[in-house]
Order: sequence, then structure tokens, then C-alpha cells
Amino acid sequence: MPEFRPFSRDTLRPLAALNVHDEQTSFVASNLMTMAQSIFEPGSEIYGIWEKATPVGLLAVVDMSHPEADLDEGDNPDGIYVWRLMVDTTHQGRGYGTAALEFAKSLACERGRSNLVVSVVDEPGGAMPLYEKFGFHRTGRIVDGEVELVMRLV
Ligand SMILES: CC(C)(COP(=O)(O)OP(=O)(O)OC[C@H]1O[C@@H](n2cnc3c(N)ncnc32)[C@H](O)[C@@H]1OP(=O)(O)O)[C@@H](O)C(=O)NCCC(=O)NCCS
Repeated sequence: MPEFRPFSRDTLRPLAALNVHDEQTSFVASNLMTMAQSIFEPGSEIYGIWEKATPVGLLAVVDMSHPEADLDEGDNPDGIYVWRLMVDTTHQGRGYGTAALEFAKSLACERGRSNLVVSVVDEPGGAMPLYEKFGFHRTGRIVDGEVELVMRLV
């Protein structure tokens, strides 16, 4: 089972060094970009996905109930938004993506939130199958060109 450790000064470099495949770069921002954007994203939290001493991926969420969260019209503040998810090329296909979704779901449940939300580039090779298999459903909304999905938790 991987561990989800809050991003820290000591883990910045190893997490920044992780990469997706070239053909996946349009699906997710680089980890360095996520780290930089998080400074301006109230409610954001970044977790490294670790297999013992090995960094294998990165998960970033936004707690939408944060008083300064940057919500779009129609967003439900009672949710945890899966903002970024990536697993390094050498570690994909071993269940880490699914484990990250379980972790995000457990965060949302611990905090009593009613929704887990994600938006996805719906293109071949994208992560839509992962989310639908996990139990997310399309809301019918398109947010910033991405298909929004939700999982209700209550
Ligand atoms: C999407 C991603 C995080 C999945 O991580 P992972 O550790 O490989 O996922 P898992 O091993 O938990 O896969 C779970 C299931 O989803 C499927 N799946 C995962 N990614 C998939 C993809 N891109 N296309 C099709 N199916 C996919 C797997 O086949 C697997 O199904 P199986 O158990 O029947 O084989 C990883 O592929 C990645 O980093 N992709 C590039 C970035 C990206 O698209 N991020 C999502 C942004 S919304």
C-alpha cells in the first residue's frame, strides 16, 4: 500500500522529477506547475504518493469549503476536488491511481464532505476509464473544457 505524504521542502525535488508519458502531457500539468499554482489556490493540498522510499506520483486536491476557494458558478462548496493526479511513467498500471482516489475519498469522508469532484480531458488515452470504473458519474457540465464528474458520498 502506498503512503500519501503532504508535500514538503524535503520532497519538492523528488516529486518535481516525476513525469507522465509524452502523449499524456496534455492531460495534467507538470508537478512543478502544480506546486507553483498551489500558492495561489486557496484550499489546495498536495500529497506525494510514496512506495516506501520511492516517490511514485502526486495527488493534489482542493477543499472547496475553504472560505477563499475559487469556485465557479454552480460549484458545490461541500466537496473535495481532485485537482491533479499523476503517476510516474515507470509506476503506472500498478494501482497507485486507484489508491490515490481512495485516499481523496477518505479525506472527503473524514471531513464530512458530500462530494468528490474531478474534471477530465475526455480524449483517447485519458483517465476517464479510471474515474468511471471507480464510481464517478458525469454531471453534464463542462468546466474549462473538461468533463466534470462527481461521486456522492452521503
Ligand atoms: C491516470 C493515471 C493517474 C492512472 O494511474 P495508474 O496508477 O496507472 O492507475 P491504476 O493502476 O490504478 O489503474 C486503474 C484502472 O484504470 C485503468 N486506467 C488507468 N489509466 C488509464 C488510462 N489512461 N486509459 C485507460 N485506462 C486507464 C487501468 O487500466 C486500470 O484498470 P484495470 O485494473 O482493469 O487494468 C496515470 O495513468 C497517469 O498519470 N496518467 C497521466 C496523467 C493523467 O491523465 N492524469 C489524470 C488527470 S484528470
